[in-house]
Amino acid sequence: MKKLTYLFLLFQMFLLGSLNAQPYKPSPGIDAKVNALLAKMTLDEKIGQLTLYTTDWGSTGPTIREGYKNDIRSGACGNLFNSHTVGFVRELQRVAVEETRLKIPLLFGFDVIHGYKTIFPIPLGEAACWDLEAIELSAHIAAAEAASAGLNWTFAPMVDITRDPRWGRVMEGAGEDTWLGCRIAEARVHGFQGKKLGNTDAVLACVKHYAAYGAATAGRDYNTVDMSERFFREYYLPPYKAAVQAGAATVMTSFNEYDGVPATGNKYLLTNILRNEWGFKGFVVTDYTSMNEMVNHGVIADEKEAGELSLNAGVDMDMQGSIYQRFLKQSLKQGKVLQKQIDEAARRVLRLKFELGLFDDPYKFCNEERQKATLLSADHRKAARDVSRKSIVLLKNDKNALPLQRNQKIALIGPLADNKSELIGNWNGAGNADDCITVAGGLQGWNVTQVKGCDIEGTDKSGFEAALAAARNADVVVAVVGEKAMMSGEAASRTEITLPGVQEELILELCKTGKPVVVVLMNGRPLAIPQIAQNATAILETWWLGTEAGNAIADVLSGTYNPAGRLPMSFPRSVGQVPVFYNERNTGRPYNPDSKWTSRYIDEVNAPLYPFGFGLSYTTFSYSQPTATVTYAANDASKRFAKSPVTVQVTVTNSGKVAGEEVAQLYVRDLVGSVTRPVRELKGFQKVMLQPGESKTLTFTLKSEDLGFYRRNMTFGTEPGEYDLMVGGSSQDVKTVRVRLEK
Ligand code: NOJ
Repeated sequence: MKKLTYLFLLFQMFLLGSLNAQPYKPSPGIDAKVNALLAKMTLDEKIGQLTLYTTDWGSTGPTIREGYKNDIRSGACGNLFNSHTVGFVRELQRVAVEETRLKIPLLFGFDVIHGYKTIFPIPLGEAACWDLEAIELSAHIAAAEAASAGLNWTFAPMVDITRDPRWGRVMEGAGEDTWLGCRIAEARVHGFQGKKLGNTDAVLACVKHYAAYGAATAGRDYNTVDMSERFFREYYLPPYKAAVQAGAATVMTSFNEYDGVPATGNKYLLTNILRNEWGFKGFVVTDYTSMNEMVNHGVIADEKEAGELSLNAGVDMDMQGSIYQRFLKQSLKQGKVLQKQIDEAARRVLRLKFELGLFDDPYKFCNEERQKATLLSADHRKAARDVSRKSIVLLKNDKNALPLQRNQKIALIGPLADNKSELIGNWNGAGNADDCITVAGGLQGWNVTQVKGCDIEGTDKSGFEAALAAARNADVVVAVVGEKAMMSGEAASRTEITLPGVQEELILELCKTGKPVVVVLMNGRPLAIPQIAQNATAILETWWLGTEAGNAIADVLSGTYNPAGRLPMSFPRSVGQVPVFYNERNTGRPYNPDSKWTSRYIDEVNAPLYPFGFGLSYTTFSYSQPTATVTYAANDASKRFAKSPVTVQVTVTNSGKVAGEEVAQLYVRDLVGSVTRPVRELKGFQKVMLQPGESKTLTFTLKSEDLGFYRRNMTFGTEPGEYDLMVGGSSQDVKTVRVRLEK
């Protein structure tokens, strides 16, 4: 307890310094140093700074290049990824600063997505905690661990909004909602970059994948994207902007096209919006060979042209494609690109190397003792357990089957009950499965009989009988089932999003024993599980929680911790409903189950199985009727509304028998706009702890931008008229107050 308080205090101190809400701005004096260095550099050396190669330590895509050590020596490669640990990094950095002419240090990047050695919940899971401080702390610990192991750049946060659970990469983002996605993007950037770039507990963040990668058609990874500019700006673009405004130093392009132009060659995205509209001053890196892939997209004829299109669009660094290295000189000679563009790209990269302090001490992220003391420390594990249990969502709890009672005999069934290797999920940094606590481990000391029952995949049912026997012999069944970790993540889209193999069948058989069946789900995406929802007694969504998974799940199963997670993404009833999301537009024929001629299916209801924002607790909460106050800017006709024109008040009461946390959510709807508006949009939330019988009155403040949108003429702002303001415990369970905004 004392330690947790200490951790909390440390974090408060950290937070106080980290809350910059400005795009990255070069520190004073940096440009003079960069310019002096640029003046000494040859064209080849400059192009080397625009080049990023993977080492052979690990690879996160098709490897097309070997011999990177020679490339460092010759100055042809100024940046590396997939190389970490102090010893390995130190040696490569040594080559750069001792064996090259200008001794320019390397950047070391890596996909530190949800932890480096201490693995935190997958980002989608962590988004379910609705606790921005916990999310920031998790990113900060990930950064501190990575920065102790030689790294200075993470390819995160991934802020792609998605509405399609077939898409494997849904696990890496914050789910379907734009507003929540923005807040989480900010928290993660602040966490990764810490108080100051160059601190040895911080790394450069890289916002990805810019832009709209999460809208891949049919949820198939790398597929094309097509949407209106209005939907793009309203739903998909804001989280990238929020991350840039939170100070993210770098941005990664995406594999998809936007409006017919691949993102990596898209000047509208990379220059008009990113640099001109948002004032981004960091550097842009491609995704893995996405420059080369523009040939397949069919917008240029060959790789040389791909390099020209990219540089002209605003790409600074080529990840793994070696196009800049092979062709940029020739393109310059032919006048297809300009010297000043190459200089500017090199300037952007070098600035951040200075910012990190690498010229003063190229080995500053290479300290054996710090690495040893930092990785998987007791404090980090504690923080991981804390955010992991906060990320668990209780989806069903009939007959108060949960929490379990200490005297109950538990039949612990399922292929994931004691399976360490899956718990750390996909994109697991340098995490070790062996460091993970399983559910069986978390329930040590309880009266547990464990039987696997079946595999995650496959058709073998020979284990069913033993599982059923254990169930009959127990008071309660805890069935731990789900996907394999590698079934989500990059290049892992699925057309069926049910439980794989015979796991669902096993659960339905277990339910027939008449014993209460608690299903613990582990998965990287929303799953379609209507049969389980109907038949199981209780369901816990636990995602992939990482190193402390089993302890966190045991905390919830035992009632040591009262679950308060809320879904960041709707769970469909079947893949046929996809995309199903809460902030849709109304149609001219809104859903009416009794009328054929409305927007509906003939074989299924429209509502998802579990909606965005949903999650139960071991207690219950009630809401008063909300009230609202509208204020106007005094004597200022040009600013129609005050900066924060609307406040909403609501009283939330714990109407149950145990203490618990409620996530009170505020949604808005503009009833009549110059263009159609979503039926509701999240614009705020508050997480509040209440003792049984306790009430608290919450006040939400809406800023004018919360009520604004891209109007008919694509300018952003508010419109007068009536708005519904809705407060409640989920997107589908709200109480409404109507307000009128005057001109
Ligand atoms: C490709 C992925 O799309 C991207 O997210 C990742 O950062 C890079 N590979 C590097 O591993």
